[in-house]
Amino acid sequence: MSRERTTVPQVAGAPERGEKLVMITAYDYHQGRLADEAGVDIVLVGDSLAMVVLGHDDTLSVTVDEMLHHVKAVRRGVERALLVADMPYGSFHLGPRDTVANALRFVREGGAQAVKIEGPRPEAVAALVDAEIPVMAHLGLTPQSVHKLGGFKVQGRGEEARRSLLAHASELEAAGAFALVLECVPSELAAEVTEALVIPTIGIGAGPTCDGQVLVVHDLLGFEDRLSPKFVRRYADLGAQAREAIARYAEDVRWGRFPSVEESFDDPSWSSPKVRSIHG
Ligand code: KIV
Repeated sequence: MSRERTTVPQVAGAPERGEKLVMITAYDYHQGRLADEAGVDIVLVGDSLAMVVLGHDDTLSVTVDEMLHHVKAVRRGVERALLVADMPYGSFHLGPRDTVANALRFVREGGAQAVKIEGPRPEAVAALVDAEIPVMAHLGLTPQSVHKLGGFKVQGRGEEARRSLLAHASELEAAGAFALVLECVPSELAAEVTEALVIPTIGIGAGPTCDGQVLVVHDLLGFEDRLSPKFVRRYADLGAQAREAIARYAEDVRWGRFPSVEESFDDPSWSSPKVRSIHG
C-alpha cells in the first residue's frame, strides 16, 4: 500500500496485488492519529462505538448524529488511511432515499470516503453506489441483528447457512460493494467466500485466509474487558496500565505529593501555612 492517502480502488485491488489489508476501529481524533501513524490501511468508525465508548450493551441505540460526531473527530486525525463510517441501525432500513441521505452526511459532513452497512442488503448497496458512495458490506455475525440471531454467536454453521452466506456475499459484490467484512464465521467458510469473490474479504473471527483483518481498537489495546471474544488478540494491556496510573495519581494527590514545586508556578521558597501544617 502506498504512503499517499489510501483510496477505495487501492483497497479493492489488494487481493490482486497479494497484499493483506489491515483495518482497525477508531472513535476519536487521537485514536485515528495513532492508527494512521502506525500505518493501517483502513480506519473504521464502527458502531461498536455504542458499546466500547458509550457503554451500551449492544449497538442498536447509537444514532447517525452520534456517529457523525465521532467520524468528524477521527477524520481530523487520519491523513493516510481510508476512512470508513459505519451506518448505524435504522439508518439504511427505510428505503434508498433515506439510506443515501444518511450516508451523504457521513461523506459530506464527516469526511468519510466510504460507508459500511451490515447484512444482506444489496438494494441499499446499489443505491449508495449509484450515489457515488463506496460501500463496504458486512456478513456473518452482524451485531445489529442481535435480537434476530439470539445473541452474539458464530454464524454460517451448517449447509443451509453456508449456502446462504455464500449467496449473499456474491449478491453484495454484484451490487457494487468494494469489500466485505466477515464476522464470526468458520474459517473454511471464510476461505470459500474469499475464493469466490474478487473484492477483498476482511475478517474478524473468520480465520487467517481472509484478504485482511479488522479488530476493535479497545480489544487490541486491552481497554475493553467486559467481553473477551476468542478471536481477539490483545497486543497491550492499557486498561490495567491506565487504572494503575490513575490510582497512583490519586495517591499522590491525597498525600500532597502532586503537584510538586517544579510542577507549580509558585515561588519555590513559598509554602502556604496550610501545606506547612499538613507536612510539618
Ligand atoms: O462496529 C464495528 O466495530 C465493526 C467491526 C467489528 C467490523 O463493525
